[in-house]
Amino acid sequence: MTQHLADPATHDAAAEGPAGRTGWWRDAVIYQVYPRSFADADGDGMGDLEGVRARLPHLRDLGVDAVWLSPFYASPQADAGYDVADYRTIDPMFGTLHDADALIRDAHALGLRVITDVVPNHCSDQHDWFRQALREGPGSPLRARFHFRPGRGTDGELPPNDWESVFGGPAWTRVPDGEWYLHLFAPQQPDFNWEHPAVHDEFRSILRFWLDLGVDGFRIDVAHGLVKADGLPDLGHSEQLKLLGNQVLPFFDQDGVHEIYRSWRAILDEYAGERIGVAEAWTPSAERTALYLRPDELHQAFNFHYLGTGWDAGALRAAIDDSLDAMRPVGAPTTWVLSNHDVVRHRTRFGSLARARAAALLMLALPGSVYVYQGEELGLPEVTGLPDEVRQDPAFFRGDGQDGLRDGCRVPIPWTRNGSSYGFGSGGSWLPQPAEWAGLSVEAQTGDPASTLELYRGALAVRRDSPWLGAGDAVEWLAAPEGVLAFRRGGFVCAANTTGAPVRLPAPGTVLLSSAPLTDPDLLPADTTVWWTA
Ligand code: NOJ
Repeated sequence: MTQHLADPATHDAAAEGPAGRTGWWRDAVIYQVYPRSFADADGDGMGDLEGVRARLPHLRDLGVDAVWLSPFYASPQADAGYDVADYRTIDPMFGTLHDADALIRDAHALGLRVITDVVPNHCSDQHDWFRQALREGPGSPLRARFHFRPGRGTDGELPPNDWESVFGGPAWTRVPDGEWYLHLFAPQQPDFNWEHPAVHDEFRSILRFWLDLGVDGFRIDVAHGLVKADGLPDLGHSEQLKLLGNQVLPFFDQDGVHEIYRSWRAILDEYAGERIGVAEAWTPSAERTALYLRPDELHQAFNFHYLGTGWDAGALRAAIDDSLDAMRPVGAPTTWVLSNHDVVRHRTRFGSLARARAAALLMLALPGSVYVYQGEELGLPEVTGLPDEVRQDPAFFRGDGQDGLRDGCRVPIPWTRNGSSYGFGSGGSWLPQPAEWAGLSVEAQTGDPASTLELYRGALAVRRDSPWLGAGDAVEWLAAPEGVLAFRRGGFVCAANTTGAPVRLPAPGTVLLSSAPLTDPDLLPADTTVWWTA
């Protein structure tokens, strides 16, 4: 089933990443493409790799450094591709391996690096290993690659322990021969047993496969979940979902995961061009996140503490300080992220476009690397009120799990004012787009200096040319009125007013960029961020 390219050895320099400075990832702006919702080249209503390739110039013009693609591997799509049936094959819905190769080459030719998702905590229940394990029955060595156990109770009718799935319901499903298997996510996503050497070997081989194809790094799905506590002990807590990310759990953030990343780092370092590993690790603290970023482990981790911080100056300042302080000792850059495919878009979370724009300028002024989720550069809001029959998020179907609303941030993005699915593709779109999105399309916003798209383009251009934005590992806080954050970075000053009223603040220099029009140079409007040279 694995597709092969003619001969990876014939790859030219373009497949080895754009030439660039050392440490390119330390202050990189990385754009997340959610392939099913970015652009649809073949008109089936679902985005694909050819669609992404055709739209790469948008990303170059936006001014980002790299693209992270959510999974496009062969998958029954029980969890939008995070249920992988074959890690070396492209799902036909997204294209072929040749399309992936062409996409990587074109991106490199445009100066964009490419990061792919790797999903090592679990696979699909349609993965060959799991199908064989089911066929071969209890006691088979193939079952040892997963977590199969007999049940509890007189007839084994109860799950082996009390763990709950992140999507709701028990984390165990019983198979017809009576054994149960562990799945921290949907039942179609059996967890691998990382105590088994074959699992290690397989993932090392998968990493090499994609590195040979030219990818510049990996976003590691559920990086904190691979190792489970010995004996799979009960948690003894009835509301487990509330504990996620708040404490070390027998299935999350176990210390044993670090050995895996040390071995992965050695592989990344074998390749030229500084290939990186990015942890999706939900940990109880920035200090625990920093452990994934020790010099012999991964390069970056998503800053979910920042993502979870509201539009409030005090809370933001604390999150910024905590993040920078935690990363400094390991020498890793902090990352900043406001939106992704799993959370309500920040425009909606923060309650207005003005705040979303201000939050973007604040984030882009901080030291470290930034993640931008597709459509946030257009100021897209969350789509609420999708009819139940179009929803695909497995959490929705598991009832009491997550809020089940992840489809609302996954609606295909608008490219043009008119036409089928606003330029997403000629065959409509797999989730309905609101009519107002015509006015938020790339076409409608391009060239309009007041648009969010031009704000992002302008900010990324300033950031690219600036020796201060993104660089370093500290900010110098300036005195500011209540509800305002102000900091200096070299010859640059940023201030964000998180209050709903204008605030008097003497301009420290010449305005570079502002998230809202300024009527008085010494007045910072409500919910506005300004950049000055000073
Ligand atoms: C995190 C991914 O971002 C999310 O979309 C997915 O459902 C889970 N991991 C499980 O793979």
